Amino acid sequence: MTLSHDVLIVGGGGAGLRAAIAVAEDDARLSVAIVSKVYPMRSHTVSAEGGAAAVIRPDDSLDEHAYDTISGGDWLCAQDAVEVFVKEAPGELLRLEHWGCPWSREPDGRVAVRPFGGMKKMRTWYAADRTGFHLLHTLFQTALQYERIARYDEWYVMKLLVDDGRVVGVVAVELMSGRIEAITAKAVILCTGGCGQIYPFTTNAAIKTGDGLGLAYRAGAPLKDMEFVQYHPTGLPFTGILVTEAARAEGGWLINKDGYRYLQDYDLGTPSPKPVLRSMELGPRDRLSQAFVKEIEKGRTLDTPYGPVVHLDLRHLGETVIDARLPFVRELCRSYENIDPVHELIPVRPVVHYMMGGVHTDIHGATPLEGLFAAGEAACVSINGANRLGSNSLPELLVFGARAGRAAASFASGAQGGTAVRPAVQAQVEDERRRLERDLFHRDGKEPISAIREEMRATMEEGAGIYRSGDSLAKAADRLSVLQERFRSARLEDRSRTFNTELLAALELSFMLDVAEIIVHCALLREESRGAHQRVDFPARDDHRFLANSLVHRDADGSQRVEYPPVTITRWPPGERVYGR
Ligand code: FUM
Repeated sequence: MTLSHDVLIVGGGGAGLRAAIAVAEDDARLSVAIVSKVYPMRSHTVSAEGGAAAVIRPDDSLDEHAYDTISGGDWLCAQDAVEVFVKEAPGELLRLEHWGCPWSREPDGRVAVRPFGGMKKMRTWYAADRTGFHLLHTLFQTALQYERIARYDEWYVMKLLVDDGRVVGVVAVELMSGRIEAITAKAVILCTGGCGQIYPFTTNAAIKTGDGLGLAYRAGAPLKDMEFVQYHPTGLPFTGILVTEAARAEGGWLINKDGYRYLQDYDLGTPSPKPVLRSMELGPRDRLSQAFVKEIEKGRTLDTPYGPVVHLDLRHLGETVIDARLPFVRELCRSYENIDPVHELIPVRPVVHYMMGGVHTDIHGATPLEGLFAAGEAACVSINGANRLGSNSLPELLVFGARAGRAAASFASGAQGGTAVRPAVQAQVEDERRRLERDLFHRDGKEPISAIREEMRATMEEGAGIYRSGDSLAKAADRLSVLQERFRSARLEDRSRTFNTELLAALELSFMLDVAEIIVHCALLREESRGAHQRVDFPARDDHRFLANSLVHRDADGSQRVEYPPVTITRWPPGERVYGR
């Protein structure tokens, strides 16, 4: 049996749904499908909390949003992409309103906006602190109105099919039955999110395992800026669950074990008794996470079984504000920490939150590999540079999800030939079936995959965390190559075909190990400190050598080759990043 569509979208989160709607709106003759390893409403977009940035107030401007984004990204952003992004973001958020998204309002009826980290104007739209839930729900219910958007829920894509230098579909396993099928398409859009699961503490759902990055890289598409890994300064210890930046936007304070608002020591401004736009607690995430490490070094953090923590103090906000603006934060703290932030301090630590890097695309979501597109966190169109500002990722997935959908639709309409499977492609499908039988179902390996996964995570945190060095990265690279070897002889206990979650974990780990190696390799080569990439042995930003994106290609022998094309600068030459002044 061959399953076939004009445009196939891998991933059913915000970017995937937005892309699907764009295809369906663009050309009624095209058949479009979403293949997702989870039911769409379980995609990670659902857990976004704080909001979505787009200029809406008269005292703000597109240029100011662009400048905040570019300086926040430490001048690694593609400025042409940022200009497109800030221009189209307001229209996308307004469109969501028309589709039913319940944006919070001011008492006078205007859309409410809140301050957010690194944004010097109020431009973050929100739906209480459940923005991702409402946004995803709005997109999903809109997508359901289009009968021609087909879905493969709980199918996992193992491989991209490439024929004569062009992507022509995927090989996927249906998790319910274990059957492996080709789904052919004239264009494929990767919307698979990031890969926080390669680290031990992350806000990312268990499904964020870098599948799309691995698929693209193995098929021959380059990945960009992979060394830039964002830590969010306030995750709950142990679970890593996000405590939204909105808690600080509403006036929350970060305090160390002495009850001291320590950020005043890190050039982020002075303590203010009230929430203010340029509050030091609303500095950019890279700076706040780095300040946390310095507090550990000064012995001013508290020890817990899950590592050192500081405290987030919301008590002075009072129950009414917390219940109105931060109900989800209160619920999470009660459920997962057994504390009530109305009366108690919240223990927090930096946790991996977002990958600035991803599959290299142009401003239409097209990758250099013909027929392959990408959008959302899986992609790197390069609006986030070396450090993404909070609340830019939701509008990013809307703007570039829609763009990728339209570009893929136009590519598919103009593509020559049908979607019939040629023998060379059928051979790739058979290879995948054999690989699964041989490598996973019939191997009497030595150790369980969970042991390898835990070691990978520890390796990444120790070697490629908030601060890195040539030594720590070189050690991480060695350990990862041993883990790759061990993975080749790992053992699966579960040989069943029905919802075999161990098989899924093995396939995911295979991608994660590849992505981890790429992150470490690119971090080792970037001998400077910029945004989220801080090298203790190269502490300064080096625009002379590294005002350039890293582009990693997979060579025919499987090795990584990194190129450094210059950053696209349109109107904002590199400058100093200034906060709190
Ligand atoms: O803190 C937050 O609510 C996260 C927002 C974001 O990553 O954009």
